[in-house]
Amino acid sequence: MLATDKHQPASPVPIMADLARMETVRSIVELEYDGRGVTLRWDDERRSRFHVLWLMDNCACPKCRHPQALERTFMFVDLPHPDITSATLHPDQVLEIEFRAGEESHLGRYTKGWLRAHDYSETIERAREYASRLWDAGLAHSLPCFDYEFYMGRNAGLRAWIEAVKTYGIVLLRGVPQQSGKLLEVARRIGPVRASNFGEYYDVVSMPNPNASAYTQMGLELHTDLANWRVPPDIQLLFCLKSNVIGGESVFADGFRVAEDLRTEHPAAFNLLNTHGIEYRFHDDDCDIRTTAPVIEVDGEGRLARIRFNNWLRGATVLPDALIEPMYAALETFWRMLRNPKYRLNLRLEPGYLVAYNNNRVLHGRTPFDSTSGERHLQGCYLNQEDVDSTLRLLARVPA
Ligand SMILES: [Fe+2]
Repeated sequence: MLATDKHQPASPVPIMADLARMETVRSIVELEYDGRGVTLRWDDERRSRFHVLWLMDNCACPKCRHPQALERTFMFVDLPHPDITSATLHPDQVLEIEFRAGEESHLGRYTKGWLRAHDYSETIERAREYASRLWDAGLAHSLPCFDYEFYMGRNAGLRAWIEAVKTYGIVLLRGVPQQSGKLLEVARRIGPVRASNFGEYYDVVSMPNPNASAYTQMGLELHTDLANWRVPPDIQLLFCLKSNVIGGESVFADGFRVAEDLRTEHPAAFNLLNTHGIEYRFHDDDCDIRTTAPVIEVDGEGRLARIRFNNWLRGATVLPDALIEPMYAALETFWRMLRNPKYRLNLRLEPGYLVAYNNNRVLHGRTPFDSTSGERHLQGCYLNQEDVDSTLRLLARVPA
């Protein structure tokens, strides 16, 4: 639990019907308006224009937002388009706007912090919080690592863990009590675990009749988990309970680092892996889960969004004959890069260590181990990115 109760806002419902803290040191120094919108000038010379439709739609008064649920009740489809009849900037920097829509009038109030946070001007530079810091084998010297007690007991520890996941895509916890329930305790500090066909969590041990490669003593090439799911899990947690076998080292690579190098050095291969899906599937007696998706996904601005790569889950991909050779060549190029030691972070997970990583970015694997030489017992589970981001926003509500 955070230091705030999720269901009880620490203060009365704020003027903008938003529980997020939106503060700014900047001030509005000039206000101009006409029937179609307002223009603000700030003390850093920024100019922000807000359209009348947008302002009315985002009015957060109790008539437009449910006073407890804080959700929008205003339906612009039911009103004629509004005009602004007056706009006033009060000494407390609250902007008050009077709208007229047909026969009806309405008063909206907007704080400067909210206006600054929601400024949609094209000219402003939007800083990306937690931009990915790409890494290679050198991260071994600076891998983020926090104490279990710091993470579990302090908001600062929770925030540091989340920031590491968002920035590096990987973070370690040390000193986790070597008990079976501790993995879920760590996960649930963030939110509910994401279950799969392997259950809420799974034990990674070598089994006599395994239904997955993970449950053998084989080495595992770098991969992402559940590549056969339409939307693979976002964050994976692996907790080491026992490890005294010969072999069984964990290996990680920053898939975004490798994919960016692929984009630079082998653009045709990058393009093929980005534009053509390959099939992944998992089947046993209880399920048959398949999807076809690209190895590399980018967002609308070309930024890397997801790496999906898992050789033992690769199915028989249907492709035009002319693409068979180029696709195998592209996969081979990417795969050989993943095997390059310069990208690989080798880590012997000791008992009491818990590693978490972004399964859409960081690939993981292990070296083979000799199951007769001792015991190796890991437990794993998954979290949703939404719960990670939500926890970070809840932390931001707590006064520093
Ligand atoms: Fe895995």
